[in-house]
Amino acid sequence: MENNKIRAAITAVGMFVPEKVLDNKYFEKIVDTTDEWITTRTGIKERRIFEHGATSDMAVEACKDMFANFNVNPEEIDTIVVGTITPDMFFPSTSCLLQYKIGAKNAWCFDVSAACSGFIYSIQVARSLVESGKSKKLLLVGADKMSAIADYTDRNTCILFGDAAAAVLLEPTSEENTGIIDTILYSDGSGHEALNMKAGGSLRPSSIETVQNKMHYVYQDGKAVFKVAVSGMADVAVEIMQKNNLTSEDIAYLVPHQANMRIINATAERMKLAKEKVMINIHKYGNTTAATIPLCISEYYKDKKLKKGDKLILTSFGAGFTWGSVYLIWSL
Ligand code: UT7
Repeated sequence: MENNKIRAAITAVGMFVPEKVLDNKYFEKIVDTTDEWITTRTGIKERRIFEHGATSDMAVEACKDMFANFNVNPEEIDTIVVGTITPDMFFPSTSCLLQYKIGAKNAWCFDVSAACSGFIYSIQVARSLVESGKSKKLLLVGADKMSAIADYTDRNTCILFGDAAAAVLLEPTSEENTGIIDTILYSDGSGHEALNMKAGGSLRPSSIETVQNKMHYVYQDGKAVFKVAVSGMADVAVEIMQKNNLTSEDIAYLVPHQANMRIINATAERMKLAKEKVMINIHKYGNTTAATIPLCISEYYKDKKLKKGDKLILTSFGAGFTWGSVYLIWSL
């Protein structure tokens, strides 16, 4: 590891999950499914639904949680990045709305669209800005209101998703052995047909027909995505371990995207990691897309399960396809 290199380190965290809970029993009433099927096939028991606002409002709550627990002045934030695929509107960006709502008037802002890899992709961008000296205090939020694009008549998808937001602050550090150490990212656009929202964009602008044909919801070929998600997430996690000479002994936690417990288990198995070393909250929140990874990190930090110097591997797979891994050493 090089000495005296400036790295981006997480110096504050915050999270928000809505109060309203939809459990598996609820879905038994609205679609042809069972608690048993959902639990064994996905690991999900409950998910949260945000009824009182948009994605930026959840992001605001995650930031408020951060500001309540850490000494962060919104006016000192110079950059805001929001990973989301459920922006409040096509434009302006959700990050601009967040900036306005939290009074971060000195920040420039943009969104990153990488679906379930939104947080990991944003880390790569954020890390580059911090390491190059362009940003000193960067607010990075993963937020998705998946209930806005879930079809609650389609049992294949509606049981999977929930709403949440979580935030981290990234600042430069020259301390050795801390911060974001490495990132590996991939995309494969040939996967666009397996996971997408078919209408509302320039390809198929919203019309009566697109609404009638239910084209404004998440479409997923679950089986096809499952196959590539298992290999994609496990391969890149093992790749970043090998690149950084890490064994399973060295790693405190794997922080996997929470899409399916079976994908998480397969990834951990490939990394030869014990169950206790895998951050899990899919049973409580389901798949919250760009929020899953920062939500895990915030929750484990709040539960005092993380300590300074812990080596974490973050890994995700999502629409695009987009996937990747981050190796970081915990700094709080
Ligand atoms: O986060 C972004 C990336 N996304 C992912 O990583 C998700 C990847 N995919 C998955 O997690 C899984 O494919 C699902 C959980 C979505 C589905 O599980 P599966 O084991 O792949 O099931 P399947 O799609 O192969 O369906 C098996 C059967 C089908 O019935 P038939 O055709 O065998 O009669 C489905 O119709 O299960 C049926 N099914 C259900 N049954 C009860 C699908 N959804 C349900 C349901 N309840 N909710």
